[in-house]
Amino acid sequence: MNLNKIYFYLTFAALLLSCISCSSDTVSVSLKISGQGYLIIPAKYGSSQCETNLLPLVSFCSNFITQSSEESDFCGVTFIGENYYVGGKQYAAQFQLGNAQAKLNFTNPYKQSSSYLKNALCFGKKDSSNQDNVVEELFQQGFIKEQRFYVQVNSTNATQGVIGSIDIGSPNLSLIKKGSQLVYLKHYGTIYATPLDRFLYYGDAYLDQGSGVGVGFDLQSPYTQIGIASINFIVKQLQEQSIGYEYHFDTTNKDYTFNVDSIEKLKNISLNVITYNESQFKITIKPQDYTRKLQNGKYQVLLYPLTQSTFISLGYSVLQSYYIGFDLATQTYLISEKSQINTTDQF
Ligand SMILES: *[C@@H]1O[C@H](CO)[C@@H](O)[C@H](O)[C@H]1NC(C)=O
Ligand SMILES: *[C@@H]1O[C@H](CO)[C@@H](O)[C@H](O)[C@H]1NC(C)=O
Ligand SMILES: *[C@@H]1O[C@H](CO)[C@@H](O)[C@H](O)[C@H]1NC(C)=O
Ligand SMILES: *[C@@H]1O[C@H](CO)[C@@H](O)[C@H](O)[C@H]1NC(C)=O
Ligand SMILES: *[C@@H]1O[C@H](CO)[C@@H](O)[C@H](O)[C@H]1NC(C)=O
Ligand SMILES: *[C@@H]1O[C@H](CO)[C@@H](O)[C@H](O)[C@H]1NC(C)=O
Ligand SMILES: *[C@@H]1O[C@H](CO)[C@@H](O)[C@H](O)[C@H]1NC(C)=O
Repeated sequence: MNLNKIYFYLTFAALLLSCISCSSDTVSVSLKISGQGYLIIPAKYGSSQCETNLLPLVSFCSNFITQSSEESDFCGVTFIGENYYVGGKQYAAQFQLGNAQAKLNFTNPYKQSSSYLKNALCFGKKDSSNQDNVVEELFQQGFIKEQRFYVQVNSTNATQGVIGSIDIGSPNLSLIKKGSQLVYLKHYGTIYATPLDRFLYYGDAYLDQGSGVGVGFDLQSPYTQIGIASINFIVKQLQEQSIGYEYHFDTTNKDYTFNVDSIEKLKNISLNVITYNESQFKITIKPQDYTRKLQNGKYQVLLYPLTQSTFISLGYSVLQSYYIGFDLATQTYLISEKSQINTTDQF
């Protein structure tokens, strides 16, 4: 091979490589379910590429990795100072996040306020430059062109391994149902939320939730949280339809059980949220989506009662039928029906 030919192939290879990176403006990470039921992102970090699972947080947050100094040394992360705002030692490290190798800053917190903040990536609101936010950091390093991310889940079975994805930057268009599009929802309050149009429907029944109720998507729990009166109504319906069930709610002991023998006669739960242009967007939660099959053949009902509530929190089980976008700057949601690829359902 002569030199010209080698140059030709090298140039060609370089072009090919640069085009692979230039054409992609999305970082896609996998989602699994942790032992406690949280959605988690498997990732690797540091020069030793230590494996970890990180919670995607969408509230006021920062990137956190809790580790001993031995672990920090072993994993090969760079100490860059104290973070007095967040309260901990500040580090920088190379992260393997899905298809991207990005440099992220994170805090190893001094105080363990909750296991929740042990290992987490912040996808949420930023009030101070001392908070690290993965979406912003990927944007600053040119991996993505828009500070948005999109979440979908295709199962709530924790033992199934990868059950969903977060597409950071731009949506995966093949996940949007044919004929639908992503619709901006109206913003409500100070965090990611959208207003509820007053009612929740169980089949045809109206369940008044009162006015001024916000709706949000919860990446920490598969449970959809609604007012206890609505749960009581659904339980009464089960009795009337002679569907075998077990319902036990004890706030003092935090003891909660809600199982049904079969889901055939359960009804859709639906609610209307308000779009950016003040029209309604109907979210329908099918029985298959608000229940989860148990090992004993019964079904766990993924609804949780709130004794007083001005906020309806839709569990990640709802993301089996909807693809949800989060826009960092405006704290608004985008929503579309999800294309129904065959999921490894219980049916
Ligand atoms: C990490 O922190 C350093 C020091 O505060 C800062 O200069 C750098 O821009 C940060 N890097 C990222 C990826 O945010
Ligand atoms: C569920 O989603 C994950 C991530 O998007 C994907 O790897 C997996 O193949 C999907 N499973 C099914 C059954 O669609
Ligand atoms: C988009 O979603 C489809 C269906 O789940 C999946 O097969 C494909 O790999 C995804 N594409 C990217 C770039 O993640
Ligand atoms: C429940 O909702 C699904 C999805 O929107 C719809 O296909 C189905 O017909 C609804 N079932 C009933 C009984 O209305
Ligand atoms: C408002 O949103 C609805 C639903 O997305 C859409 O059908 C309608 O065309 C929009 N109207 C305007 C004026 O943009
Ligand atoms: C959950 O997934 C695992 C692995 O695919 C399977 O063995 C198990 O039966 C599933 N559980 C239920 C209740 O469907
Ligand atoms: C989904 O599964 C059903 C039954 O296994 C099959 O008939 C159907 O063609 C599948 N649909 C898609 C889109 O793969």
